[in-house]
Amino acid sequence: MKNILTIAMPKGRIFEEALKLLKKAGYRLPPEFDDSRKLILDVPEEGLRFILAKPMDVATYVEHGVADVGIAGKDVLLEEERDVYELLDLKISYCYLAVAGLPNTKMNDVAPRIATKYPNVAEAYFREQGEQVEIIKLNGSIELAPLIGLSDRIVDIVSTGRTLKENGLVEYEQIADVTSRLIVNPVSYRMKDTLIDELVARLHEVVFSGGV
Ligand code: PRP
Repeated sequence: MKNILTIAMPKGRIFEEALKLLKKAGYRLPPEFDDSRKLILDVPEEGLRFILAKPMDVATYVEHGVADVGIAGKDVLLEEERDVYELLDLKISYCYLAVAGLPNTKMNDVAPRIATKYPNVAEAYFREQGEQVEIIKLNGSIELAPLIGLSDRIVDIVSTGRTLKENGLVEYEQIADVTSRLIVNPVSYRMKDTLIDELVARLHEVVFSGGV
């Protein structure tokens, strides 16, 4: 589909802001976007097809070329190191990756345990600090781990800070800032450069004139 651009969109909390950005960039998207269970949404009048994916999977779809472009969190890109180009910082869904744990506690001296959804990021961070740690991979509700004695620390996303606060946890270190990025498949970028350049230019204008 040479004249259609397939965009992988992350379902969940980034979705709404990403949608606002596209609308502000002048794309007319049907109302079913706001409340639909469909996983593929075609908007032929704009030459777009949307794939609604789990945030962690967006870069996978783009790397394999089944989506030409995608909107992915920098957290996912740091964790997965996919073969995609990062074209634009959309400056939406700001949050950061941090080390957190119970207050006033020291990490175990021998191989402290770190629970996280981001094993590669966590491993690299502690290696740089010269710490040998045991990584425990979880898929969500990471904050549970130190509360029930599964880990000394967690590496996780902090957005408003509410989850940490309401669970009596504190932040120890900030690791990296996270915003959503527009990513592209390298082959698509060669084959559909005009379509992709137009999308980038339109989004760029919104982002640099104040965003959503
Ligand atoms: C993320 C993250 C934290 C929370 C942080 O989880 O893993 O748990 O949001 O947000 P806050 O600082 O605004 O409280 P998410 O809601 O994506 O679900 P998960 O626990 O399934 O990862």
